[in-house]
Amino acid sequence: MKYRMTVRPSGEILEIDPVALEAERDGRTGSILQALLNSGIDMDHACGGVGACSTCHVIVSEGGDTIPEADENEEDCLESARGLTLQSRLACQAVPDGSKDLVVEIPSWNINEVKESH
Ligand code: FES
Repeated sequence: MKYRMTVRPSGEILEIDPVALEAERDGRTGSILQALLNSGIDMDHACGGVGACSTCHVIVSEGGDTIPEADENEEDCLESARGLTLQSRLACQAVPDGSKDLVVEIPSWNINEVKESH
């Protein structure tokens, strides 16, 4: 199901079509990381999207209930993420079902590592 993802702090609104996300991209198929990468937001993802680093930490401030709960591996990995919140997720592991729009915040300390190509 297509949905919109608002990226903060840039305010960019992305139209996400999960069907168009590439299986060979880093991260789980349909993950927030894939959606960001496909939209030209080159978010840091040091481990290649296998849930082993936490550099892809994002805060899903709206629509988080459309994403299955974090598994044990994601929770363990998130524990080492800076600025952890109750809405924190690993972008590479979080796969929204598309039933609601999302608001995703990229933490400010990752901003310098985020390159947007337009
Ligand atoms: S890219 Fe390493 S945990 Fe997501």
